Amino acid sequence: EKGGFDWFMRKEIYEQPKAVADTLLGRHDASGALRLDEIRISQAELRAVDKIIVIACGTSFYAGLVAKYAIEHWTRVPCEVELASEFRYRDPIVGPTTLVVTISQSGETADTLMAIRHAREQKAKVLAICNTNGSTIPRESDAVIYTHAGPEIGVASTKGFLTQLVACYLLGLYLAQVRGTKFGDEIAVLIEELDKIPAAIEGQLGDMAGVLQLAADFAEAPSVLFLGRHVGYPVALEGALKLKELAYIHAEGFAAGELKHGPIALIENELPVFVVMPPQGRDMLHDKVISNIQEIRARGARTIVLAEEGDADAGPYADVMITLPKVPTLLQPLVAIVPLQIFACELATRKGHDVDQPRNLAKSVTVE
Ligand code: M6R
Repeated sequence: EKGGFDWFMRKEIYEQPKAVADTLLGRHDASGALRLDEIRISQAELRAVDKIIVIACGTSFYAGLVAKYAIEHWTRVPCEVELASEFRYRDPIVGPTTLVVTISQSGETADTLMAIRHAREQKAKVLAICNTNGSTIPRESDAVIYTHAGPEIGVASTKGFLTQLVACYLLGLYLAQVRGTKFGDEIAVLIEELDKIPAAIEGQLGDMAGVLQLAADFAEAPSVLFLGRHVGYPVALEGALKLKELAYIHAEGFAAGELKHGPIALIENELPVFVVMPPQGRDMLHDKVISNIQEIRARGARTIVLAEEGDADAGPYADVMITLPKVPTLLQPLVAIVPLQIFACELATRKGHDVDQPRNLAKSVTVE
């Protein structure tokens, strides 16, 4: 059942093009108009929403952080993202015009479920993004968008994460469509770009020699840092989480702009630092991240730069370049996380670890 792969995790990483395509399937018509018929919240209710709170744990929380950038940009509705375990313990401001979006691959995470119960007691509408049909979280929610990743067996979430991102983008665009904050043709263009993502990931997966080499080169590194900005920041957090979970080495993700507010003190000779470059030309942050790379390189870090094809600006300051396919800025996490998943998986297997069942972890965390 591992389909020729030695680990479920490797199989699931390679299933990502299909998982993304399946999650997009049937969600729009030929003109690019979105049809999320399964959302049982009326269009009038969606138009009345004045605040969105995304609630999740772990990797699903990082999908939520990406969702905030997309949802606010497309809908102009304020969107907060909160760890499920913190939500109900701080007396959050939630009411009938709040849309609570929960993200859970398993649909059984206790922290998320408790947050849902609290939100519904306050009369908020709850929409679940979930991968598991009929699980507790969608059953206790007002509406659900299912991700169609198929069963995810590896404890570390991979295809689950990518399909959660897709569902968040679909939700953001759907809200923009319903609320009239984006024109139909703009939505259609983004849907077209989403439809190109499976082929883009397929291309990346066919060319991972550079990443395998990195896993060999850094197998003994005691610590690895990840930097990103904008939607590259949650990618950095998720890259670090994969490495912690699988390889049991210290890893941290930072917003690159925070570097000089503390983390730069960690930089020392030979420390591997992955940097997710914002797309070139389309983003003023590009040049700021180039400066960050110069700063850490000058202090001895080994810089591994993930940049879109054709972006040569970081070249002089990168020890290693990893090329990403060109995609719209907000969609970049879909392609930027793939090499980081493979890096963590390969580094951990080199160390002899069980990447499907990392120590101390469970696939579903059903206690608070
Ligand atoms: O099933 P969920 O999406 O609710 O799970 C949330 C987290 O427990 C989960 O993402 C965890 O962080 C994974 N092991 C990450 O790889």
